[in-house]
Amino acid sequence: MKEHVAGGQRRRARSLGGDRHAPSNDAEQEDVDVRVPSGAEREGGRQLEGALHLCLVKSAAAKERLRPAIYPGNVEKTMSAPVTILLAYDLTFHERLPKLFPMGDKRAQFAAMPDDVRAGHALANAALEAGYLILAARALGLDCGPIGGFDAAKVEEAFFGDLPWKVLFLVNLGNGDPEKLYPRNPRLTFSEVARIE
Ligand SMILES: Cc1cc2nc3c(=O)[nH]c(=O)nc-3n(C[C@H](O)[C@H](O)[C@H](O)COP(=O)(O)O)c2cc1C
Repeated sequence: MKEHVAGGQRRRARSLGGDRHAPSNDAEQEDVDVRVPSGAEREGGRQLEGALHLCLVKSAAAKERLRPAIYPGNVEKTMSAPVTILLAYDLTFHERLPKLFPMGDKRAQFAAMPDDVRAGHALANAALEAGYLILAARALGLDCGPIGGFDAAKVEEAFFGDLPWKVLFLVNLGNGDPEKLYPRNPRLTFSEVARIE
């Protein structure tokens, strides 16, 4: 498990693209959940950690509700994963800021923003938390297969109903088959992505 941590996450960890076959257990999933709010968030503290919301799709019936929303190339790996997590950002995250950030009235500050600006804050913070979720799962030895190839409107209709949640992406969670992996994809170099001034 140690090799998944810290530097190993960056240099060696893989996104499992093949079909999942070994179940993960509830304790592992709850452990991932507990560890998610462990990193910094954008707004000068942790007050927006409530932006990410999760729906864990586990039962066969729920998986069948998900199936029509998944693009063909992603169906098999999604249906065979023990758990598919729907990661979403909550458009009303600011309603919980009095609990998450009791030091000041941030709710009014966000409520006064245009809807699209406030939604951008929710998306950015939830995306950070989503990355931490993947790191936490990998640190537990679980494999993650992030999936962006799906119909967001169908997912939201089937699972979120009237909730003010917008889906970010899905993560198939389990123990993947290394035999089904492509060679590791190239990464951009430091000089391709960073400038020093
Ligand atoms: C947000 C996001 C969406 C992705 N969507 C898909 C997808 O729809 N289908 C798929 O097979 N892989 C998907 N991937 C997996 C990437 O293709 C994979 O992470 C990439 O090949 C890097 O893998 P590696 O880290 O093992 O090299 C997605 C990854 C991310 C981060």
